[in-house]
Amino acid sequence: MSLIHQINTQNIPQHIAIIMDGNGRWAKQHGENRIYGHYEGVNSVREVVEAAGTIGVKYMTLYAFSTENWNRPKEEVEALMELLISTISAETPQLNKKNVRLQAIGNLNSLPTNCLNELNESIEQTANNTGLTLILALSYSSKWEIQNAMQQIATKVKAAVLQPEDITEKIIEQHLCTNKFPDPELMIRTSGERRISNFLLWQLAYAEFYFTDKLWPDFRKEDLFEAIINYQTRERRFGKTSEQITQH
Ligand code: IPE
Ligand code: IPE
Ligand code: MG
Repeated sequence: MSLIHQINTQNIPQHIAIIMDGNGRWAKQHGENRIYGHYEGVNSVREVVEAAGTIGVKYMTLYAFSTENWNRPKEEVEALMELLISTISAETPQLNKKNVRLQAIGNLNSLPTNCLNELNESIEQTANNTGLTLILALSYSSKWEIQNAMQQIATKVKAAVLQPEDITEKIIEQHLCTNKFPDPELMIRTSGERRISNFLLWQLAYAEFYFTDKLWPDFRKEDLFEAIINYQTRERRFGKTSEQITQH
């Protein structure tokens, strides 16, 4: 029986962030080259996004390509960009059908032009959808994002549009690429690695972390449900005592 029935519908995280890791190892296990793993990973993306939308998750951020990933072998980077283009193009009608709105964060201008064009087209075509917002982190790294925010803020201070004492958490958040989205309550990383790899350092300040040994191409909808059920067992105290949380 599906784990979906064990989910408390009153406590669904509104934003889930995922570090989709392990495509290369999955391919190796299957005697194939790394690229094959990335292709199979797309099937997991499709299934997980659909499942998240079905249970009422509002935002899902997928770490698809990091700033550091540009340092991979040229053939792999090119294959990933090709895969991105073909996937976005092929999946956009389905995104519309499922009422999914596509968004992206990262240094998008560093993407190849045809990739950026395809991405922008899909973002435009899905802009009016009201279900899940799917945010792709592309050429993204948190330190890049924070550096970028600081430069924008410093420019405003220099122009006296902003005073140093006006720089609040809210102002900083407004200058991050995620300014239109709430912070994730749950961060999932597959493949057994227990690190954050330069992903949403600010935004994950109070997120619950869920690690699984499953490789990304093996992570499917029941695994997402399992992660959410696990999340629902956690007491989110935000610095308070357990008694304070359970008082009401
Ligand atoms: C994640 O899988 C996908 C990307 C980083 C683009 P990996 O390609 O990192 O797979 P492993 O970690 O080598 O197994
Ligand atoms: C993180 O995975 C980036 C993405 C999933 C896109 P990596 O496989 O690149 O991370 P590290 O380098 O092992 O930490
Ligand atoms: Mg990896």
